[in-house]
Amino acid sequence: MSLIVFCATNRPGARTRTVAKRVHNFLGELSKGAGGPIVDYLDLANLRPDIFSTDCYSQKPAWFLETFQAPILEAKGLLVCTPEYNGGFPGVMKYFIDMLKFPESLVDLPVAFIGCADGQFGALRAVEQLELIFHYRKAHVYGERLFISKISSVFSADGSVGEYEERLQKLAAGFLSFVNVLKGERAYHGP
Ligand SMILES: Cc1cc2nc3c(=O)[nH]c(=O)nc-3n(C[C@H](O)[C@H](O)[C@H](O)COP(=O)(O)O)c2cc1C
Repeated sequence: MSLIVFCATNRPGARTRTVAKRVHNFLGELSKGAGGPIVDYLDLANLRPDIFSTDCYSQKPAWFLETFQAPILEAKGLLVCTPEYNGGFPGVMKYFIDMLKFPESLVDLPVAFIGCADGQFGALRAVEQLELIFHYRKAHVYGERLFISKISSVFSADGSVGEYEERLQKLAAGFLSFVNVLKGERAYHGP
């Protein structure tokens, strides 16, 4: 079992990806130091075009089952980094959720969210929409969220996330504790 940091967009050059990779590093170091789980990274940029065939509603490609479905089912926690596109989370993320095995994929899964946007609300809308869906799918939603606003101006030359660096670390540490507190095995007990 592992923790997963997840990039919820497939847009080439997405700033959300830079944030996701940064928090992946923090969480990896923290977890290692605490003898915690391995921290993996999943990115919607790695979805292959055949997942968009309508056949996939009934049958998923083997690569999808192996690369995305199995890690999500086995995950101990999921930290989702999402941008805001047109006042919501990316359409590709909803399609991805719809491709996951129903109903068990998100049940009992501890999940946290980081929003990234150029706008002043830092993808608040995108995060809250995702929270609704994850609640509906019976995940355990972590109460702390981080909203990175005006994202095009926050990165420093050294690749850090400027003023958000400390808050990213705090969120990563808090989420790790949340996962440890919940700790229980994930088990689907029916609808
Ligand atoms: C299709 C699209 C729609 C967008 N809509 C919004 C929006 O509704 N609100 C906002 O603050 N920024 C919006 N943006 C700008 C993003 O906030 C900006 O690209 C930021 O870097 C986060 O997205 P990224 O991870 O794709 O880079 C949009 C960007 C794209 C590509």
